[in-house]
Amino acid sequence: MAGEPAKQYHLLVCGGTGCHATRSLQVIDRLREEIRLRQLADKALVVETGCNGFCAQGPVMTVYPGGIFYQYLKPEDAGEIIEEHVLKGVPVERLMYKDQVTGRAIPKMKDIPFFSLQKTIALRHRGLIDPEKIEDYIGRGGYQAAAKALTEMTSEEIIAELKASGLRGRGGAGFPTGVKWEFASKSQGPVKYVCCNADEGDPGAFMDRSVLEADPHAVLEGMIIAAKAIGAHHGYIYCRAEYPLALRRLSIAMEQAKALGLLGEDILCTGFRLDLEIYQGAGAFVCGEETALMTSIEGKRGMPRPRPPFPAQKGLWGKPTVLNNVETYANVPQIIANGGLWYASLGTEKSKGTKVFALTGNVNNVGLVEVPMGTPLSTVVLEIGGGIKKGKKFKAAQLGGPSGGCIPAQHMDVGLDFESVTAAGAIMGSGGLIVMDEDACMVDVARFFMDFCKDESCGKCTPCREGTRRMLQVLERITKGQGQQGDIELLEELAFFVKDASLCGLGQTAPNPVLSTLRYFRSEYEAHIGQQRCPAGVCTALVHYEIDPEKCKACGMCKKKCPVDAIEGAPKVVHRIIQEKCIRCGTCYEVCPKKFSAIMRT
Ligand SMILES: Cc1cc2nc3c(=O)[nH]c(=O)nc-3n(C[C@H](O)[C@H](O)[C@H](O)COP(=O)(O)O)c2cc1C
Ligand code: SF4
Ligand code: SF4
Repeated sequence: MAGEPAKQYHLLVCGGTGCHATRSLQVIDRLREEIRLRQLADKALVVETGCNGFCAQGPVMTVYPGGIFYQYLKPEDAGEIIEEHVLKGVPVERLMYKDQVTGRAIPKMKDIPFFSLQKTIALRHRGLIDPEKIEDYIGRGGYQAAAKALTEMTSEEIIAELKASGLRGRGGAGFPTGVKWEFASKSQGPVKYVCCNADEGDPGAFMDRSVLEADPHAVLEGMIIAAKAIGAHHGYIYCRAEYPLALRRLSIAMEQAKALGLLGEDILCTGFRLDLEIYQGAGAFVCGEETALMTSIEGKRGMPRPRPPFPAQKGLWGKPTVLNNVETYANVPQIIANGGLWYASLGTEKSKGTKVFALTGNVNNVGLVEVPMGTPLSTVVLEIGGGIKKGKKFKAAQLGGPSGGCIPAQHMDVGLDFESVTAAGAIMGSGGLIVMDEDACMVDVARFFMDFCKDESCGKCTPCREGTRRMLQVLERITKGQGQQGDIELLEELAFFVKDASLCGLGQTAPNPVLSTLRYFRSEYEAHIGQQRCPAGVCTALVHYEIDPEKCKACGMCKKKCPVDAIEGAPKVVHRIIQEKCIRCGTCYEVCPKKFSAIMRT
């Protein structure tokens, strides 16, 4: 790593929030301890990096030279790794990733499908640098784009490059970044602001947090370039207080950049000045909406206001303001360094470049995935994601968080770009991608997101405040088996009303999960209402468990595990569920041995 004398081995251990949770810090301590005990400090260096992306296998580590990837590390593995890999030069096979079909070890990170099928731009430094050392970032070409923008380019040239790149905002709406910057640069006034939206309130999303944790300088560099483009000298990064690691690394990065003359007065002796501040949000989803975010920075309650005027004309404290998402900014230095046309060569005709997805849910490889726009959903779920957990069937992917929708199995080959995803009934949103298997109940999924929107509605306008509440009531009664004929039509009517009449994007998009599940899974709603049946067996009130006497082998497993003693039976006596006692928890269904499959769920 830059700033350190060269060592023969660099052990890059993931220090993202996910790997911290699986004890990567203890792994780091033990590795350092083993190096100290064997007096190998001249030979090996342990580096805590940002999120490597392969969160499901954590804690993970990559060892250079060679890029050997280790997974599921435990502190106890440290001794063997140092002894075998570092001292004897023999990588430890048992800790390597195994091919999911052949079971054979794949030693190198670059050969593992999860990584090899990705194209990283916003995440290009992930797992490769210590995010708390500016030298590491500079060592990989960091801040050269800012230097180029400040010393060689006019504002117009920067904006032209952004427009040529075709970069569209990654925060949800997909507005062209170059056009937004052009509006703000043409707005008159001596005071302008540049802001970064790191609020990230969508359930299932962690892209922005990971970028900030792994590569905070890329975001700062993008903001410096934006500031030069529009003529701003002050800016804010709005990040939720629930992201303590991201906040810590961001403030370290800002201090280091300031100390090296990359932020503050007279940046790189160019006469350009930019002061940045972090503003900690309290974690309200609506505060991610641009006008609410700015109101919140102004010290008031974060509520949206009508647009126009748009922030590029009248934003923070009424001054022209550019607000962009974390991932949007992280792309900017690469665009300036390599040219807009380079970026535009990736992706589809209207959606350029790459997109980061937070891949979660019932998929084997949960993690962060960056792919060129237009990559089929099937590639992301089945190849990069390694398919569905426990060999189950793919049912749908929920894209775009609470504003989004579900893409069903029959559209699995849809390209992940703004246009195709919208045509399929979902939205790209900020990149939350939740995979659902055959056991998901789509009415319940819609209820979950509506519950979220109802809770997060700021209450300023009636259609959203009351409409989300009413829609939730209808969804709740359907999932409780109290649905009535006409409920589907009522949901549709309410959905269009809330969409059309709400003030901000929260209300305007809150009905989307309902509409998209109705579009593809209407029969599930009908089964809930008409037959009092939940086809997926999720809605507790509608599920019924029974033991098939033909199949029951009286093994006693279900009886042993039933939490309310609702099963009667004895060795060699077929078991039976006492329906009056059963709380429909599904435990018996889960524990009945597969070879018997004696529990019926209807
Ligand atoms: C309810 C709501 C929540 C939002 N949350 C976020 C967020 O967490 N992060 C984000 O970048 N954009 C969010 N947005 C979109 C922002 O309003 C804005 O469009 C975006 O930050 C602009 O940056 P971009 O052009 O780089 O995408 C949200 C919008 C709405 C309506
Ligand atoms: S749409 Fe909802 S969140 Fe947005 S202003 Fe109205 S009440 Fe608030
Ligand atoms: S569903 Fe739960 S409560 Fe009912 S019989 Fe099975 S284990 Fe017991």
